[in-house]
Amino acid sequence: MSLSIIILAAGQGLRMSSDVPKVFHCIGNYPMIYHVLDLSLKFKPITTTLVVSKKLDIFKDSLVKRYKNITFQNQIKPLGTADAVTSALKNKKIFKSDTALILYGDTPLISFDTLNRALKEFKRKKIDLSVISMVVNNVNNSYGKLILKEDKLEKIVEKSELGKNQSNINLCNSGIMIIKTNYLIEQLKKIKNQNLKNEFFLTDLVEIFNKENYKVSYFNSKNGEAMGVNDKSDLAKLEKQFQNNMREKFLKAGVTLIDPSTVYFSQDTKIGRDVTIHPNVIFGPKVKISDGVEIKSFSHIENSTIKKFSIVGPFVRLRDKTVINDRAKIGNFVEIKKSDIKNDVKISHLSYIGDTLIEKNTNIGAGTITCNYDGLKKNKTFIGENCFIGSNTSLIAPIKIKRDSIIGAGTVIDKNIQESTIVYRKSKLIKKNKKK
Ligand code: UD1
Ligand code: MG
Repeated sequence: MSLSIIILAAGQGLRMSSDVPKVFHCIGNYPMIYHVLDLSLKFKPITTTLVVSKKLDIFKDSLVKRYKNITFQNQIKPLGTADAVTSALKNKKIFKSDTALILYGDTPLISFDTLNRALKEFKRKKIDLSVISMVVNNVNNSYGKLILKEDKLEKIVEKSELGKNQSNINLCNSGIMIIKTNYLIEQLKKIKNQNLKNEFFLTDLVEIFNKENYKVSYFNSKNGEAMGVNDKSDLAKLEKQFQNNMREKFLKAGVTLIDPSTVYFSQDTKIGRDVTIHPNVIFGPKVKISDGVEIKSFSHIENSTIKKFSIVGPFVRLRDKTVINDRAKIGNFVEIKKSDIKNDVKISHLSYIGDTLIEKNTNIGAGTITCNYDGLKKNKTFIGENCFIGSNTSLIAPIKIKRDSIIGAGTVIDKNIQESTIVYRKSKLIKKNKKK
């Protein structure tokens, strides 16, 4: 089978009430259109066509950088999904495929497995048009409905066109279609816009194919994977579904989630084996957690790596390319930004560590602050191995504290410290009797 993929992303997305184009809204901190493009790559199509509107022009460069082989086709006006496919056909490479898979940019959770099985069935049963369907229990939804006659798909009726006795149908259209390319090209022209929205509905193809006696069928998806996003409420629904999928995936892979429903992941979160995650932990983008790590409650981790057997939290914030190496202990109310924390370091309480390298075995006392910002730029801190930094110490960067040094509690350090040095400020403690 030679496959071409067409992805529709040129709709106006008015129902999102947003200046950001719909397909660039995120699920799991990852734009919906990236989810769909990643999926399309897995099928190794001979060509992938992304149908876009002018509104997406500013995103073209970043899309091309990520997905080198996509062909863009502009849809001049959003005249409907059939018109969008007509625009896609300006890419003549599509004509070389025998099968076309049409995906929607606002339907990001559909799985490879479902589409792969549908494609296999399409081939095996020599189908000409297959619609990916879904059962939606709440019949009051905005999806097009599949009208069956003796179990055969007769037509799809859009929500705006539904007749009275059709409103309780729960078999819905995901929008995704698999279609014989030459029939698509030949029949697409027949679609008219005589409907209440004056749009060219791709879904009309079902009835047209039936009239031609082409073989029409449907393939049911599962677990909400085929839901689409039209408004912010749908976006929240899909986010919920995505999070549930991620929780299941990690539980299966041997991660312990003490209260799964309170842990939130990003699309690219990576977690090793025998990791324990306590309730209420949030993973922003670009997080890697190695084997044996424990993350305690209320921690927020983004763009950071935590290596083997480290313990982080509760109430820890890690960000901006921070690396926590093996067996480190990062305790409550510690924020670490753009820092490299080597093996067996302890930062147990109430600290801010920014733009810092801390070598192995060093202990950072409660309330230690790296003063990395001088009002104009960020400056670096270096703390060598085996140091002991006393509580409530301020380290005014740029600064180096070399190995095996001890800093007394409450010290403000504004000069480099050589190795094996004990540093403290001596100021006399005054004691007086209170006047009565
Ligand atoms: C569409 C289907 C509906 C299905 C639902 C599933 C049609 C007529 N209706 O409705 O049966 O249940 O999806 O989510 O197909 N787009 C364009 N150009 C356009 C219009 C849309 O590229 O002129 C793109 C959009 O960017 C979007 C996709 O096509 O990615 C679907 O468009 P949308 O307006 O969301 O259609 P629905 O009303 O959701
Ligand atoms: Mg939609």
